[in-house]
Amino acid sequence: MHSPGPRPGPRISLALNTRRLLGSQLPVVPVPHIPSPQGAVALNRPAPLVPSPAAPAGSASQNPVSAADSDEHLLGQYIPLLYHYNMLQDADRVQAFQAAINTVVQPGMHVLELGGGTGILSSFAARRGARVTCVERLPALVEASRGFLADNGLDDRVTVVHADAARYVPDSPVDVVVCEMLHVALLREKQAQVIRAFKQNYRSAFDGALPTFIPEVSILMAQPVHQCFDFAGYHAPVPSFHAPVLEREGTAELAALSAYANIDYAETIPLDFAVAMRMKADVAGQINALRFVTQNVLAVDMQKQQAITWANQCMVLPLATPISIDKDQNMVLRFAYGAGGTVEDLQQTVAVETLA
Ligand SMILES: C[S@@+](CC[C@H](N)C(=O)[O-])C[C@H]1O[C@@H](n2cnc3c(N)ncnc32)[C@H](O)[C@@H]1O
Repeated sequence: MHSPGPRPGPRISLALNTRRLLGSQLPVVPVPHIPSPQGAVALNRPAPLVPSPAAPAGSASQNPVSAADSDEHLLGQYIPLLYHYNMLQDADRVQAFQAAINTVVQPGMHVLELGGGTGILSSFAARRGARVTCVERLPALVEASRGFLADNGLDDRVTVVHADAARYVPDSPVDVVVCEMLHVALLREKQAQVIRAFKQNYRSAFDGALPTFIPEVSILMAQPVHQCFDFAGYHAPVPSFHAPVLEREGTAELAALSAYANIDYAETIPLDFAVAMRMKADVAGQINALRFVTQNVLAVDMQKQQAITWANQCMVLPLATPISIDKDQNMVLRFAYGAGGTVEDLQQTVAVETLA
């Protein structure tokens, strides 16, 4: 039976020739390195509608989700199969991860994927000749990925484990860890917490070096903008997400995009961000929103001397109090949030102050 596809949307002018794709625009280094404080999915990553069912009794589950984790059902770490189409058909995302995996993974390696979803990234590692362990916490996705991997003839090379990746410890050391729980600004998903916990567990279990992480680095950036929040004559300043391009209709850049955190997953990973970023206005105008941009360095191809990058969707958060600025005006952007936190919590803190 022909199943109905998505309804065709209105024709949108993407202005492809003027797009500045973040991957080719943003420097990988240097960006300010935020010293670790003691205490830092966009529309295509919607929060799930219902909690995940518990693991079936007698299943081979390892470290299944406990009642203590129930708050996490609300935060977007659970992404039902229903939403994985968006991730699978996101060619920028899939091809960037495939290129990174093809660059880093060598035949015979042991690769661990944390948060395997449908198993697509594990399949890339398996096709490179690696032995792969794919950890997934959502039972429906454990079942689905096992089926997809078998259909693709990869079930003898990929073992799907039902477990919480923050608690999972492999039987033996691994060469590469792939983890894509990435949301703009590291909100909503728990990339930071999961890799932090994994590293701690791994170091307790094994001596020696940590594996290579894909991604290697996430660069978190912010920028003051004027955003058009008018919809058919109706003004409604709401958070919005858009493709990772800087030049777009309706968004005017008022100062440079600046990095506030440079997260190297092999180093200490911050969980809290308290940002006060000084900058100078490039043009006069009204700042009514901050745009958040996250660029991930998935791997570095040493032979080609090239970084393989992937940018999350950009997020634009309206300010409670818009502020007018002059050209060359000094100002400070302020916001604070925790990694894995909600968009709403971050939004409550965003502010811009002018400086003399
Ligand atoms: C953004 S999706 C990516 C899925 C897949 N890696 C891909 O690239 O298509 C993140 C996946 O991580 C899983 N996940 C989130 N937190 C997890 C945890 N603590 N342990 C294991 N899996 C987790 C989610 O259920 C989801 O399938």
